[in-house]
Amino acid sequence: MTAAPSSTAARESDETVADRSAYETVIHRLSKASVDKHWEPYKDIPWDDPEFLIDQDDPRWELPEVDKLGAHAWYRSRSPEVRARIGLFRVATAMKIGLQFENLLKRGLLNYAYRLPNGAPEFRYVYHETIEEGHHGMMFQEFVNRTKMPVRGMPGPLSLIAQVAPWIPLISTELFFIFVLGGEDPIDHVQRKMLKDGRKHHPLEETIMRIHIAEEARHISFARHYLRNRVPRMPRHRRLLLGIISPIILGVMARIMLAPPGPMIKRFNVPPHVVRDVYTNSQAAAAEIRDSVGKTRELCVDVGLVNPLTRRIWQVMGIWAPSGKSA
Ligand SMILES: [Fe+2]
Ligand SMILES: [Fe+2]
Repeated sequence: MTAAPSSTAARESDETVADRSAYETVIHRLSKASVDKHWEPYKDIPWDDPEFLIDQDDPRWELPEVDKLGAHAWYRSRSPEVRARIGLFRVATAMKIGLQFENLLKRGLLNYAYRLPNGAPEFRYVYHETIEEGHHGMMFQEFVNRTKMPVRGMPGPLSLIAQVAPWIPLISTELFFIFVLGGEDPIDHVQRKMLKDGRKHHPLEETIMRIHIAEEARHISFARHYLRNRVPRMPRHRRLLLGIISPIILGVMARIMLAPPGPMIKRFNVPPHVVRDVYTNSQAAAAEIRDSVGKTRELCVDVGLVNPLTRRIWQVMGIWAPSGKSA
């Protein structure tokens, strides 16, 4: 049994990978790290330990005051049990949407790997990543099952449209890895923020988050290095096209990952004015969406995907911040 990380894993930093050998060195390092440090949900998480069992009324599920919904007067005036259930429902929904996104991602990674030539170092790494994402899917679904709540993931129509995602690598591998970052970065952003909120978390939630953050650091690193290596050499017209589509994908994905869960609103009768205050008309929510793509935005600037025209699209999508840095 491998103990879950006892602290939040650091982010991987980017290296200069303009030349092929530096890029390959990074991929080999990530592949080796996947062998040295990985976790398996049914081996490394003590699901049935009494400490790890889920009680819907456990006050540790309550949303903290630093949370937009958690601070709202309507939420604060609910009973402690209802506050706990709302918090748990929201965590479980995020895991469900996360596992659906990762399902699409795995299928896309396999479509990418299918066409790789013999000897390509990406092949091994992408298989490591696919296996890790398989573990994440099991880990998230097991958590959802144990909440015994009627949690649903993406809304139906969105889920239908999302089925095109695994085929993106057949059109453009660069666009596919933008899609990957579009999902992974906001999830990582939210999970890191949660672990830093100074609250006492349920040990099961904390274990899952720490394992996920540690393995995702490699996935995000691979996608970033892939783009750093590939985008600067793309023909100008293809790079322009990628620059136009990227902010659209990133803006939509961040909203999917951070949107208020419809079933939660219905189940707990969250009044429309609360939804407006917390999500739709909230400056804090807009800033959260903008910040959650901050790292990817900086990367896009660095690799030449942002020019006066495409910057306009970032602004329209509500994910631009002055000087390209996180607000
Ligand atoms: Fe994952
Ligand atoms: Fe991942």
